[in-house]
Amino acid sequence: MTLVGLAVGAALAAVALFVPWLPDQGAEQARIVDNVYWFVTIICVAVFAVVAGVSVYAVWKFRAPPGDTDDGSPIHGHTGLEIVWTIIPVILVTAIAVYSGVALAQAEDIDDADKLVVEVSAQQFAWTFTYPDELLEGGRPLTSGELVVPLDQPIEFRITSKDVIHSFWVPEWRMKQDAVQGITTRTVVQPTKLGTFPVICTELCGLGHATMRSQARVLDEAGFRAWVREQRRLAAEGASVQGEGLFVSNCGSCHTLAEAGTDGQTGPDLDTVLPGQDAAAVSESIVEPNAEISEGFQPDVMPQNYGEVFTEQQLEGLVEYLLEATGGGD
Ligand code: CUA
Repeated sequence: MTLVGLAVGAALAAVALFVPWLPDQGAEQARIVDNVYWFVTIICVAVFAVVAGVSVYAVWKFRAPPGDTDDGSPIHGHTGLEIVWTIIPVILVTAIAVYSGVALAQAEDIDDADKLVVEVSAQQFAWTFTYPDELLEGGRPLTSGELVVPLDQPIEFRITSKDVIHSFWVPEWRMKQDAVQGITTRTVVQPTKLGTFPVICTELCGLGHATMRSQARVLDEAGFRAWVREQRRLAAEGASVQGEGLFVSNCGSCHTLAEAGTDGQTGPDLDTVLPGQDAAAVSESIVEPNAEISEGFQPDVMPQNYGEVFTEQQLEGLVEYLLEATGGGD
């Protein structure tokens, strides 16, 4: 039995140690959170092993012989044992609470002078990211449906919701924070890894919860500045030129459009539904998607916030492009 126990233990230890259970660490905070995670996991594994070991041993050692149908003899208890199994958990739970508290304080301890503020707005079922310190022509802050941030700079996310409760999470960064209407919550991340990571809503928020995703792109400082300049240029540029680019990056994953070469299936096929529509109808379908739902599709799946994500110029350009691409309009 000891040998079997050792073999099973060795196999489980290999699974525990050699399978990469967690996503890559993409931020300073990820290292801190992972330390807490493994601290708690090791305690749990030890407690489980002791409890399971004693249980299995007791079942084997004190089993009733065949034919014995007596009740077991009444046992009063064991005061010493009860004190031990109360004190040990108290110590463990206190250790976990203190360590977690220290880790959270560490994770959120950033240099305020150096931070980049990003406002996160959640809405069924989309994310909007606003950079209050990066102004476009006319003084409007830069707004994007994609989260783009510079490497190694501490970022303070100020998070809120326009409707129900959502939750902002980039797994590689570990820090997770609820988005609640009427209040602004906060979290802090200092990205340490270049790349593109998913932004996920982790609070069941309605029919489109599973589709409430965006992406976080971490660029080096120069790349980030270039992105901001490009956004400024796009916002200022004449409308029609941007149409196709806007379509591919914002709409193509859900909608099929032959002209743009996209084949998304989540929303209606635009080659089918758009011909014959005028500019007003196309514009309404983008800004207020629930106003008219194509047969076989559900309301509330398409984000309701494109009226804010796109500038008026961008919206015009997109509509113009869609009309051209589907042979409608004038
Ligand atoms: Cu928003 Cu789930």
